[in-house]
Amino acid sequence: MDIETLTRPCVRIVSPYFPGKPIAEVQRELGLKKVIKLASNENPFGASPRVLAFLRRETAEVHLYPEGASPVLRRALAELHGLSALNVVVGNGSDEVIRLLCEAFLSPEDDVITSQYGFIRFKQQAMMMGARVIEVPMADWRHDLETMARAVSSRTKMVYIASPNNPTGTYNSKEEVHDLLKALPATTLLVIDEAYYHYAVHEGDYPRQSTDLVRKFPNLVVLRTFSKAYGLAGLRIGYGVGDAELIGWLDRIRMPFNLGLLSQRAALEALKDTAWLKKGVSVVTKERDALAKALRDLGFGVVDSAANFLFAGSPCPGRVLFKRLLKSGVIIRPLDEYGLTHHVRISIGAPAENRALLAALRSALDGANP
Ligand SMILES: Cc1ncc(COP(=O)(O)O)c(C=O)c1O
Repeated sequence: MDIETLTRPCVRIVSPYFPGKPIAEVQRELGLKKVIKLASNENPFGASPRVLAFLRRETAEVHLYPEGASPVLRRALAELHGLSALNVVVGNGSDEVIRLLCEAFLSPEDDVITSQYGFIRFKQQAMMMGARVIEVPMADWRHDLETMARAVSSRTKMVYIASPNNPTGTYNSKEEVHDLLKALPATTLLVIDEAYYHYAVHEGDYPRQSTDLVRKFPNLVVLRTFSKAYGLAGLRIGYGVGDAELIGWLDRIRMPFNLGLLSQRAALEALKDTAWLKKGVSVVTKERDALAKALRDLGFGVVDSAANFLFAGSPCPGRVLFKRLLKSGVIIRPLDEYGLTHHVRISIGAPAENRALLAALRSALDGANP
């Protein structure tokens, strides 16, 4: 029997997501001891020592189910944003919140609008619900919100932007976001994915307080994650804030214990260590600007980034560069799945990792390590 014919047609057309190549896999495949991963925009300094110490103490209760709705974490997040716990849903990574939004709201009759090089996970998830994905071309590698607003029709259920965007690292200004919100009909949801918020928030025109806007716009959902600046990618913690009724629907369809016991508690602890968060962000942004310059000197077309990674046109095909760097034990991200065969995305590492990257790049580009 052909199992494929049993699957939903929209499941068949979705390509799988290719995450950054894991360190353990490269170690196994190439027999390398030391591998540097600059492929998934993780925090190169790890989680706060306070969170790590807390986790070591907190393992005694792992035989118990966690509180299903993560009430304490939701309250803490609500407080952080000056909202009610009813305005917050937590997910197994913000990826789960994207999934919940698509599952709750999208049907095959719906259109979603996103941009051409917008974060691919949203497109995949929307397609899995059978929705039609309309991709609006970017302008200078930024979401063109005016054109996106013009593309809205009575079929448009959702508009999704990541700001800063993955993989381009670009963001949209407060004014642009505001104009888009004003242009959208109340029946079209706007999802703003702020996974890289902490790296962008010091940019003068970045919308620092988009979470405040959910009070005024019940069709707005803002997503955040603990996977980047908080350094907790392995614990899978993300959340969305929005109108209480809308959030209530997401909460209703999530898995009963979607966030693990340690994840809920670690997130609470991480919220308390703002000094660690700020320090990591400050080092990463300085390193990012220095790395951008060094890459430009090597012939890369680097796009200005407001995130913890760089998006760059590569002097050779991205996949070729990826393979050459792997041999030196450095993992970067080729972008073929976006149709960008001559671009790469490189996460900002710790200073020594960035130096190792540059050395590996020099020999890869010389062809000395083919
Ligand atoms: C824009 C964006 N949104 C969401 C995610 C998913 O993050 P999480 O680890 O919270 O699922 C990522 C991860 O890279 C991302 O880049």
